[in-house]
Amino acid sequence: VSGQVIVVGSSNYDRTTYVDSLPRPGETVTAQETRESIGGKGANQSVAAATVGVQVVFLSALGHDTEGTVLRHELGERGVELVDLLPGTSQRTGTAAITVDEQGENVIVVSPGANGAHLPEVTERCLAKVGERVGGDAVVVSQAEVPVDTIAQASAWAGRHDLRFVLNIAPYTDLPAEVVASANPLVVNETEALALLSSLGRAVPGGAEDADPVELCRSLAGCAVSVVVTLGARGAACLVGNRVEVSEPPAVSRVVDTTGAGDAFVGALAALLAGGRSLPEGVRLATELAALTVTEAGAATSYRVWTADVLDHVLGANTPR
Ligand code: RIB
Ligand code: NA
Repeated sequence: VSGQVIVVGSSNYDRTTYVDSLPRPGETVTAQETRESIGGKGANQSVAAATVGVQVVFLSALGHDTEGTVLRHELGERGVELVDLLPGTSQRTGTAAITVDEQGENVIVVSPGANGAHLPEVTERCLAKVGERVGGDAVVVSQAEVPVDTIAQASAWAGRHDLRFVLNIAPYTDLPAEVVASANPLVVNETEALALLSSLGRAVPGGAEDADPVELCRSLAGCAVSVVVTLGARGAACLVGNRVEVSEPPAVSRVVDTTGAGDAFVGALAALLAGGRSLPEGVRLATELAALTVTEAGAATSYRVWTADVLDHVLGANTPR
């Protein structure tokens, strides 16, 4: 199965510190260890899609510093073709300070650096060049760690070329209604779903405190072509027509690091859609794949658990590889 995924998104250099429990304000704690790795939601989703086996072109703004050099190298190693949006810039590569506790839960602070530069002309030129060699089944993917105008540009470009647009509003950012409307699917977690509902002035079924995921998903009906709400350890809910299907993940042996599990889901889903799977099937399979990544440290680094054997087992024969 062939397929192409075009990602317009962020690249970060992740510094992850592993602690017993997260420090409270004013508190100092000693870490078990610190690791540095490739990150950023755009880069993670690109690596996830490439690991599943489709061709991936990733448009991103990186600096020309040590961090950028490491990212460029690693993206290449993992099969992602990077289209550099900022050749020759003096801006720094984005970084993320991540702290992970004993339960594998994380807190993340991102310094966007080069990701924050909106580059309409360059992005348009690069998209035009990419457009010359994409098939009609290519899938365009964006997240919200790049400027709103850049996301809007990716959505409009996908629309003009009649390509499927997958939009992951992470972290939550207010976007023009037509950008959200073009998403097929829109992918948000529960927090992002609540923020989106409130920005749309829609009521939250059952209240924000313990909103029922199925109702949460249903209440986003009509704001995008299709909707997926990710539910962390409880999997994902997918709205097709007015039916909500919940995919539950398999139990995992141990939870080491949940960082980038959402990106694993979005990247794998985009690849599966590009490979011709239906949305409900893609959601089911991506839920299973994403769950496996929490057993290893790091974001994109942990997608190495998707070995050829694992992919064969989860996706069955004729996987897009
Ligand atoms: O979604 C996980 C990612 O969020 C990390 O890799 C970090 O860079 C931040 O962008
Ligand atoms: Na992980």
